Amino acid sequence: MVKSQDAFSWKDGNRPVCPIHSQVKLDILRTYIEAYFSTVAANPAIPVVNIHLVDAFAGGGVLKDPISGGPVAGSPFVMLNTVHGAQQTINASRTSTKLDIRARYHFADASRSAVSELTRGIQASEYASKLHSGDIQIDRMKFDNYLPHLLGRIPSNEKTKALFFLDQCGWNIATLDHCNAILRHLPKAEIIWNISVESLATFANENQDFRKGIERFGVDLGDAFTSQASFNHFSDWRKSLIAIFLDKIRKGCDANYVSPFMVQHDGWGYWLLHLSNHPQANNVMKATHWQHQNHSLHEGFAGLKMLEFNRDNFHQTTMFRFDEAAGKSTHEALFVELVPKLHELGGNVTRDDFVRAIANETPADVSRIDSAFAELKEEGHVRIRGPKGEQRRGGPKHGQDRISLPPQPKLFLPMSN
Ligand SMILES: C[S@@+](CC[C@H](N)C(=O)[O-])C[C@H]1O[C@@H](n2cnc3c(N)ncnc32)[C@H](O)[C@@H]1O
Repeated sequence: MVKSQDAFSWKDGNRPVCPIHSQVKLDILRTYIEAYFSTVAANPAIPVVNIHLVDAFAGGGVLKDPISGGPVAGSPFVMLNTVHGAQQTINASRTSTKLDIRARYHFADASRSAVSELTRGIQASEYASKLHSGDIQIDRMKFDNYLPHLLGRIPSNEKTKALFFLDQCGWNIATLDHCNAILRHLPKAEIIWNISVESLATFANENQDFRKGIERFGVDLGDAFTSQASFNHFSDWRKSLIAIFLDKIRKGCDANYVSPFMVQHDGWGYWLLHLSNHPQANNVMKATHWQHQNHSLHEGFAGLKMLEFNRDNFHQTTMFRFDEAAGKSTHEALFVELVPKLHELGGNVTRDDFVRAIANETPADVSRIDSAFAELKEEGHVRIRGPKGEQRRGGPKHGQDRISLPPQPKLFLPMSN
């Protein structure tokens, strides 16, 4: 078996193959960065966006397509190209104030050959001047040492924007403790974190090495893997692993919002978790997964019980693929679950507060929540008014729109048909 580290080697001029599941990951990164800048620079009066882009497992910059053998831009070039393209696209639609994205790039990798290939590739590219100006910094360092070094370089500040891409081999080089250290230092940072479910599943057993790996990762699984009861409770151990591990990450993570979705192709699967403290960032990542519906995967329910699949439904056979079927089941589930949730939240909240309250419970992005509310309003189960009390046609139009229960709630709760 080829070790994942060996599969990613740039030694002797080699370009590692970039399998489809890795190309999907790069596509998600690209789509997310595009959506990120359209969101943060949506106001056309914003002249400058300062941001740090960190690629701590950057690799050598260029990979090889498995079918054509042609070059595939790796994550550092995806970052550089997408930021460049985003600025051009935004400025094409602006008339007066042009946008200047002041991005500082921090690339690192433990491998000597990856770092020298990456440096050579950037020097030969249109981005060479950024290397000379210091806007691109490349370090050959292991992540354990690199993170404190990097955080020493970027002053701690609650307003500093940063996007971290942690595209590790395996599952516990970049750990929960590392992610929490990033979020404590830079609360506005967002982290896209690749965790190989395959490696975790292969490695999982009852021996000391696994225990040490788990300890290093920063979660406490208690007796989850040794207790026979916990295995009996779940339909298969892999689901058990995913459920327990994700649950622990969510509970132990300093980020307010975690999107716990997977990417899968040809049987290969990995989590591409997104950690952030901002509900809008969480929404942008969810919308990104809905755009990658052939490969994005959520091993859970459609509505507000996103991760309770194992507890209630041991024999779940279909996967949530962010596709048309998932869209339909999301709408149906939200139609039934939003009104009880509104009751729970006091019966009168703004759309933004509602979204914040359910962000970690649902794979639905805001557009899907709005559309479920539009139907609930149509059928008289909720009222939607603007901040000045104005009636809304259809669903909520703004985050500050108030959603409330009608004065005399219908006797019967909405049912999915
Ligand atoms: C999945 S590959 C990254 C691919 C890259 N993001 C791309 O798109 O081309 C993982 C990288 O992590 C590097 N690596 C392995 N162990 C590491 C460690 N402890 N610290 C930093 N980098 C490490 C490997 O050299 C490899 O280049």
